[in-house]
Amino acid sequence: MTEPTTVTPRLREMRWWDIDPVLELEKALFPEDAWSRGMFWSELAHSRGPEATRRYLVAEDGDGRLVGYAGLASSGDLADVQTIAVARDHWGTGLGARLLTELLRAATDFDCAEVLLECRIDNVRAQKLYERFGFEAIGFRRGYYQPGNVDALVMRLTTAADSGSAARANSEQGTEING
Ligand SMILES: CC(C)(COP(=O)(O)OP(=O)(O)OC[C@H]1O[C@@H](n2cnc3c(N)ncnc32)[C@H](O)[C@@H]1OP(=O)(O)O)[C@@H](O)C(=O)NCCC(=O)NCCS
Repeated sequence: MTEPTTVTPRLREMRWWDIDPVLELEKALFPEDAWSRGMFWSELAHSRGPEATRRYLVAEDGDGRLVGYAGLASSGDLADVQTIAVARDHWGTGLGARLLTELLRAATDFDCAEVLLECRIDNVRAQKLYERFGFEAIGFRRGYYQPGNVDALVMRLTTAADSGSAARANSEQGTEING
């Protein structure tokens, strides 16, 4: 009997010609609040050259199919996980963790001391992934996801050793962040 072969998806920089397949995944994975083509174009416009503030990646399987993507934006010493997504048939294989690892490497390259992200309050799977990497909940953004009016949990990863307990205390008090 032949063992099934599993090819580990390859991570590479996302380019403009990846936008169409990324949009397909985006619509399937974020049916209520999918990004538009223009949003990806404008992110990629800042992803190259010495002034780049964005890092976008795609994961490509052995057949050249895109099975994941992720992006990070930096602003001063703050970075934001803009998006991260994995095709449903690849969930639980560690691909989300690989993409996040690359984003955190990019944050280091951008000299960012803190990484922030927003996550739907009901997206427990994603929150568990972020927690494994040391992200801590620091507050909420009410009605952040429209039109469904779903709240976002704001999470933060910091390199400063003593700020973790402050973040925990904030989350216990349910600190609300405006915006
Ligand atoms: C959130 C998301 C990116 C996670 O991607 P993923 O590839 O499933 O992530 P991972 O495989 O690295 O980790 C997820 C789980 O699989 C488990 N896992 C990792 N590698 C594994 C392996 N080789 N075999 C079995 N399970 C494994 C992990 O332990 C983890 O489980 P846990 O959450 O119970 O700890 C993915 O579910 C997704 O795209 N969701 C829709 C879009 C989305 O919500 N994005 C986030 C917006 S905030």
